[in-house]
Formats: sequence, structure tokens, C-alpha cells
Amino acid sequence: MTLNRLFIQNLRNLEGVDITPSAQVNLIFGENGSGKTSVLEAVNLLALGRSFRSHKHKPLIRHHQNSFTVFGKVRVEDGSDVPIGINRTSEGLANFKVNGSMVPSAADLAAYLPVQVINSETFLLLEGSPQVRRQFIDWLVFHVEHGFFPAWKAIQRCLKHRNSLLRHDRIDPFELAPWDKELVLLTEQIHEFRLESFRQFHEVFDELCKEFTKLDGVKLSYYRGWDKDKNYAEVLSASLERDQRIGYTQSGSHRADLRITINGQYAAETLSRGQQKLLVCALKIAQGCVFSRITGRKSVYLVDDLPAELDEKHRALLVKWLATMGTQVFITGVDRDVLLASWLDKPEITPKLFHVEHGRVVEAPY
Ligand SMILES: Nc1ncnc2c1ncn2[C@@H]1O[C@H](COP(=O)(O)OP(=O)(O)OP(=O)(O)O)[C@@H](O)[C@H]1O
Ligand SMILES: [Mg+2]
Repeated sequence: MTLNRLFIQNLRNLEGVDITPSAQVNLIFGENGSGKTSVLEAVNLLALGRSFRSHKHKPLIRHHQNSFTVFGKVRVEDGSDVPIGINRTSEGLANFKVNGSMVPSAADLAAYLPVQVINSETFLLLEGSPQVRRQFIDWLVFHVEHGFFPAWKAIQRCLKHRNSLLRHDRIDPFELAPWDKELVLLTEQIHEFRLESFRQFHEVFDELCKEFTKLDGVKLSYYRGWDKDKNYAEVLSASLERDQRIGYTQSGSHRADLRITINGQYAAETLSRGQQKLLVCALKIAQGCVFSRITGRKSVYLVDDLPAELDEKHRALLVKWLATMGTQVFITGVDRDVLLASWLDKPEITPKLFHVEHGRVVEAPY
């Protein structure tokens, strides 16, 4: 799975970009504020319909314009190219297209372009809220289990209804019962999907973690969102009174988390910032490896400002893994030579270089 054409119009300071990325390594350099992260943001928008920097779409639209467009061609397994695109207007309208036809949601794009992001935000995976780690687990589940997304959407709807009933002064048990029944079914289904992905993920992660972090005692466990010794139906009925008091459903797959500990202590509370970054890299690389192992496809890696995040030795380690995986990568940094240095000992790979200057992106000589 590679992006072999990228067209960007009116996104941030990028007025009109049209590049043909390499299926292997793309190094994007330019001074601060030139537009490097915006190029990665464009790829992420194409992949997920949203930015990794902002939940709002208005700041993404170039000043004094009323929409942005990102369009790309994705080379799929059978060797054909699938055009995909996204356009968003300042009025909030969003259009998603695959193969020239409108599709209802960004999730329809996501299946074509599985993207992994490594940036300063990603490094908050360990100390961020459970939601961040849930999204991390669900990336893999979404891409390997087609039943996951419909079940996930249905559960959001179900929780919304249940929570609104909980906020009524008097609860009619007959009204609540069908929602609880559906919630139990969906929750167990989601849990099974997650558990299976986690099991496969865990195996790969264990191998990788050692090499990346040189840490002993790293333990990864999946918390499903309710007591592991009780069934979910029991938990729901036992906590009804409390759920009602606080006005929402406390337990369930929407509270799932990934617990990462070192010798029994939370990684976020004991590791240095640098060690946390390495651990996150191991998590991200492991995820791409498992994805490939299960689906036979490869994800695209977007690595923002690599030299600012990792020292030379660890950059080399990350690059080694990216090279071994043979995935398409887009890496940004201020200095061309620093970016290039990590790839010089890999004669089988000739990176493509792109220079970004005041929002213009041009291919630069190797
Ligand atoms: N909506 C917008 N319209 C026009 N320009 C914008 C908009 N939003 C942000 N910018 C500008 O776009 C530029 C590109 O920002 P970007 O974060 O991509 O730069 P960068 O090359 O990654 O910089 P750094 O090296 O500092 O990370 C910045 O100068 C920013 O001020
Ligand atoms: Mg940047």
C-alpha cells in the first residue's frame, strides 16, 4: 500500500503541491514554519479524514480561502491505483471520494491508506488519557477486523441512548432493558475483537521492545473496561444505581485501556522522556509489523521532525526497522543532511528528497 501521487490545495500554507513520492523513503526538509508538518498532515487527512494537530477543520484551510483539497493515488495490492480524495469547506461540508465516487465517511478512506504517525503527540501515548491508548489498539482492530467499525458505531449509539435514559428522574426498566441487551452483545463482540488483536500484537511487541528500549520488566496488558472476573451483564445491573447517580455508563468497552508497566509501575510514571519515546516507537513499529503479518499489506509511516525527537543512535534504530519492514515512509526534519545520514548505510534504498520553502514543495536532487 503506497501513496504514489499527492496533490494538496489550500491546506495551511500549502497553496498548490503536486508530488510523486517514492514507494520507499521520502525525506522532507525545510526551515521552521516552511510547511513540512502540513505535508504529513495532508497525508493523514487523506488517510483518516482528520488532522493529527487539530480537531477543527477551519484552521487547516489556507487563510482567505474557503476550502482545502487533498487528493492522492494509492497503489493497492493488485498493482492498480485507486484515487482517493478529501475536500472540506469553511462551512463545515466534507466530501470524501474513492475512485471518483462520493463515499459517506472518512472511514471509507481509512481502509485504503493505513497510516501510522510518529510525532511529538504520539510520544504522549503512555502518559495521555486511556482514550489515546484505546485509539491505538483500535487502529489495528479496525484494519484487521471488518466487523469492528459497525459494532463500534452501534455501541456509541447505544451508550448515547442508555446515558440519556439514565439522566431521567425515573427509569423505566422496560425502556432500559433492550439497550442493555444490545450493549452487552456489542460490548462482548468488541472485547473479543480487541483481545484477539492484542494477543497478536503482544507477541511481536515483546520481541521488539527489548531491542528498542533495552529495558527489562516491560509488561503490556489489555484492560477490557470492566472487572475481568465478572460478566458484563452482571456489572451493568450491579452498577445501575451509581450509573444513574453520575448520569453515564461507567464500565464497558468505552473504558478499555492498554496498561504498560515496568516492574509493576506505570511506564509513564517511571521512565525518562527519552525512554518513553523509545517505548512508543517500539509500540508503533510492532503495530505495523502485526498489521503486515495479518493482512499481508503495509502501512505508511509519517514521522514528524525525527531529529528533534530521537538522538542519532535511536534514529538509526528506528530507520533500521522502517527499512526492514519495507514500508513507505515520510520523514520530516529541518536539515537535509541530518535526515539523509540515517539512510546512507542502506544502499538498497534511495530516498527521495523534497524541499519545502514558504509552502512550496519541490523534489530536490539526491
Ligand atoms: N490556515 C493557514 N493559512 C496559512 N498559513 C498557515 C495556516 N495555518 C498555519 N499556517 C502557517 O503554515 C506554516 C507551516 O506550518 P508547519 O507546521 O507545516 O511548518 P513546519 O515546516 O513543520 O515547521 P517546524 O519546523 O517549525 O515544525 C507556518 O508558517 C504557519 O504559520
Ligand atoms: Mg513541523
